[in-house]
Amino acid sequence: MSKFSAGLAALFARKPLELLLEEARSDNRLRRVLGPVQLTALGVGAVIGAGIFVATGAAARNVAGPSLMLSYVVAGITCIFAALCYAEFASMVPVAGSAYTYAYATLGEFFAWIIGWDLLLEYGVASAAVATGWSAYFQSIISKMEINIPQIISESPWRYDPTIGQFVTTGAVINLPAVIVVFIITVILVKGISESAIFNAIMVGVKLAAILFVIGVGAFFINTANWEPFAPYGWTGVSFFGHNISGLVDPSGAPIGMLAGAAIIFFAYIGFDAVSTYTEEAKNPQRDVPIGIIVSLVLCTVLYVGVVAVLTGMVKYNELDINAPVSIAFGGHGLDWAEGVIATAGVAGITSVLLVMMLSGPRVFLAMARDGLVSKSIFGTVHPKFRTPWKSTILIGAFVMGLAAFGPIDFLLHLTNIGTLLAFVIVCAAVLIMRRTHPNAQRPFRCPWVPVVPILGVILCLLLMFSLPVGNWWRLLGWLGLGFIIYFAYGYRHSVMKKYSGD
Ligand code: ALA
Repeated sequence: MSKFSAGLAALFARKPLELLLEEARSDNRLRRVLGPVQLTALGVGAVIGAGIFVATGAAARNVAGPSLMLSYVVAGITCIFAALCYAEFASMVPVAGSAYTYAYATLGEFFAWIIGWDLLLEYGVASAAVATGWSAYFQSIISKMEINIPQIISESPWRYDPTIGQFVTTGAVINLPAVIVVFIITVILVKGISESAIFNAIMVGVKLAAILFVIGVGAFFINTANWEPFAPYGWTGVSFFGHNISGLVDPSGAPIGMLAGAAIIFFAYIGFDAVSTYTEEAKNPQRDVPIGIIVSLVLCTVLYVGVVAVLTGMVKYNELDINAPVSIAFGGHGLDWAEGVIATAGVAGITSVLLVMMLSGPRVFLAMARDGLVSKSIFGTVHPKFRTPWKSTILIGAFVMGLAAFGPIDFLLHLTNIGTLLAFVIVCAAVLIMRRTHPNAQRPFRCPWVPVVPILGVILCLLLMFSLPVGNWWRLLGWLGLGFIIYFAYGYRHSVMKKYSGD
């Protein structure tokens, strides 16, 4: 074999399923403590947060109007297709690493690197976006008590202005509340997964109660006239690298309409996939991880559509608040006490999302470190007492603090969406490939209607990617470019699989 073809073979080397399963039985593993209820709670904990409590206001107001209800249905269906594919993989390959590991088994090392790197973008940038949303929501609450954080330390130095399509300065220097909340969560995560799950369960209870309250009480304040016009910005909103294909665009050239709304609030669903990164900590991963993924997703879809129906029925879409739309809608109807309760529950809800998001990144790194693609001594070390990947938790915490300190929320939000959608495309495609290459492998959970479900998953995710403003494509490509440099400088040389193949 020539040197070139050997190199190419190493680049696309696949990690055998048998090896993955064998590794799962070895030492230096995480502690198996999570059951189906805890896994579902972690899913809901990751999902319901800044998306519904914060992003819904701007999305209904500027992008979709009351048709945002349908945007939530479209985004929910897209996620369900991807979730079924995730569930099949999680049951087949029950080790940490989520989509990264699935790609290693099916598409080879290079694609596995791409997806691992992309997942770090998803979880790292999403955590920063959520922390920024947390900060805005928290500040809007304490301002009701006449407490105001000095402007200079209250937000990112930059803000995206959609009317001119550019970033403008805000006069602030740092988003200090966002940095502090990330710091606290990092400490909790280093301490241990059981503590994290308990903290999460309390937060999840609080936010579910708040959401049910919003739907149950808010329903009495719906004025159906507010749902007219239902789709003021049209039904679509798709562009291809800046060229409008279908629907309207806003002054900055970004697509608007029901479908474009789905691309933006897709953020609200991100997190169910995080359940698949806890496979190694699940007591019965083959059964419980699919349950955790699917139940949390279906539950959230139903609740979201309910909240948006109530919200756009209570307040005319173009009058919705941008920072804290849900709580302020109640204040606007004279229910000041409810505004305070929902706002507090919102902060709790967003905190639990942050916890789960920040729990996931280190686990992807852990899987990559075991394969030699990133430094084992940093990312592969499990703490002897806490049994957590503590060094990478601290490093990722520092990275998220940096992004949350200076990154504008829209920028972080859109980047998260496009990164996650790419991960979903790869997972759906990988299910199709695995069915061909390993038709007889054990699949305790089987994705139904293959190939229809994975193919529809790929198509819908791509459609949503093209409904996002074009700048996000360039940022995604930039991130992947940086990833290639790191891979060829480090991962390719240190790959454990490469040593296996005797190269
Ligand atoms: N789905 C998560 C949220 O909405 C990321 O905050």
